[in-house]
Amino acid sequence: ILRSMVVACGRFPAHYVQRGLLVLQCLQCALAAFNGTPVDKVDVPPGAQPSTPATPWKRPPIAYDRDLVIELVEAADYPIEKHVLTTPDGYILKLHRIPDPLQFPEEPAAPVDPELVRFGPTNRFRGTVLLVPGLFSTAADFVVTGPENGLAFVLADAGYDVWMANVRGSRFARKNVRLSVAQSEFWDFSFHEIGTIDIAAIIDYILRETNQPKVFYVGHNQGVSDLFALLATKPRYNRKIQHAVALAPLVYLGTTENRIIRRAAELTDRLYATLRSLNVNEIKPSPDFVRLLSGTVCSGDTNELCAEMLRAFLGSTVDRSRNLLPVIVDDLLSSISTRQLIHFGQLMQTRKFQQFDHKNHMINVQRYGQAKPPEYNLSRVRLPVSLFHGTRDFVTSIKDAQRLKDELKNVKHFVEVPNMNHIDFVYSDKLYGLVTRQIIEIFNTSHPLHVFSLANIVCERIKILDQDKH
Ligand SMILES: *[C@@H]1O[C@H](CO)[C@@H](O)[C@H](O)[C@H]1NC(C)=O
Ligand SMILES: *[C@@H]1O[C@H](CO)[C@@H](O)[C@H](O)[C@H]1NC(C)=O
Repeated sequence: ILRSMVVACGRFPAHYVQRGLLVLQCLQCALAAFNGTPVDKVDVPPGAQPSTPATPWKRPPIAYDRDLVIELVEAADYPIEKHVLTTPDGYILKLHRIPDPLQFPEEPAAPVDPELVRFGPTNRFRGTVLLVPGLFSTAADFVVTGPENGLAFVLADAGYDVWMANVRGSRFARKNVRLSVAQSEFWDFSFHEIGTIDIAAIIDYILRETNQPKVFYVGHNQGVSDLFALLATKPRYNRKIQHAVALAPLVYLGTTENRIIRRAAELTDRLYATLRSLNVNEIKPSPDFVRLLSGTVCSGDTNELCAEMLRAFLGSTVDRSRNLLPVIVDDLLSSISTRQLIHFGQLMQTRKFQQFDHKNHMINVQRYGQAKPPEYNLSRVRLPVSLFHGTRDFVTSIKDAQRLKDELKNVKHFVEVPNMNHIDFVYSDKLYGLVTRQIIEIFNTSHPLHVFSLANIVCERIKILDQDKH
């Protein structure tokens, strides 16, 4: 029997890199079955309907110098890893990871109260997922709402190996091998560089570390701009992503009814000129900065509106009615580059998804070979995409969202989430029921036939064989 199993195991039509692993796993199963020891990683029938447990989640105390993400994840009793990588242009990025406990059998996961298990006893490995936060945000976005709603926790519960990105300029990525944050050259980037350099490097790092052929991708707001800039520029990354979920994507902008946002777009060029003349390269969402800007940029009768617009841009109009937020919002928000902000203002003004306009003929020609910045070619985005749009999104309108859906070649789901605004995709306390659970279902149905699921099938077969033997 064993010999026939070895032969069978050697016949997997898998990619050669996976194949070694697969054969190994298969042989382990075969051996375990042969010795009569129980086989792990075998499908168990799905359990009860998923439900959100009602235990209140308490915010842990945060010491100023500690890493907020690690604190939050540890406090929720999940495993956490920190990874550091350097991009080709020298930015040092920190990644957070909630590893799939089943991949580390020497450290078995602590027994869980069955009441708290959302996805039945089927806690098997389902894939590797990368979460990319939006403007002014870090990986903390995906854990701050706690294990009940936080996307990272829910995905981990469902059997995903969860990686969270922190992009250049943010709280966890303020180092460069050559440049310091005090130098303006450090801040010489927008979502274009974040997508084509940071996200590319992060995906490659994760694939190398985990030996997986693809990742799942979830981006919120700028996290989607990053992805589409990457795919339009380096389409080979289509092959490295299984499925992408876009939450409140910032791609097509400019048709919102919101008067503050419209006014902001109108002021983009003036704001850029002012910030450049003041040599402000980094935008910290602090009250002082808002005051400074409203004093310089805003004048006369537009003052109130202008100040309000800056507050809107800088995130302080977040619905703070829930008790979690007032304390934590200042810890969450993180710097961006001036260019990042201005780039989005340009997208609103032009209603095009295009590269940064340097507002200087010579620089544009030098960078792009043409006077106008080139548009991103969205027909190069070929991977399956699911779009989520909140009906109360004050930044992107339903028109913007529908336009994106029409431009993309491979949209699998277009979900309009009732009563959600732009920022609710991170901070809502109803995230699990409204969004997260659907993401799990979407990923569930686009599951790759990768090494572990194949091995599971083999284990099933062997188990049956084994039972027959007895
Ligand atoms: C966009 O990309 C597609 C596929 O690569 C190509 O056929 C098309 O010509 C491109 N469009 C533009 C305007 O460059
Ligand atoms: C995911 O799929 C598995 C079967 O492959 C099923 O047992 C589970 O309930 C699904 N979960 C969700 C949230 O759809």
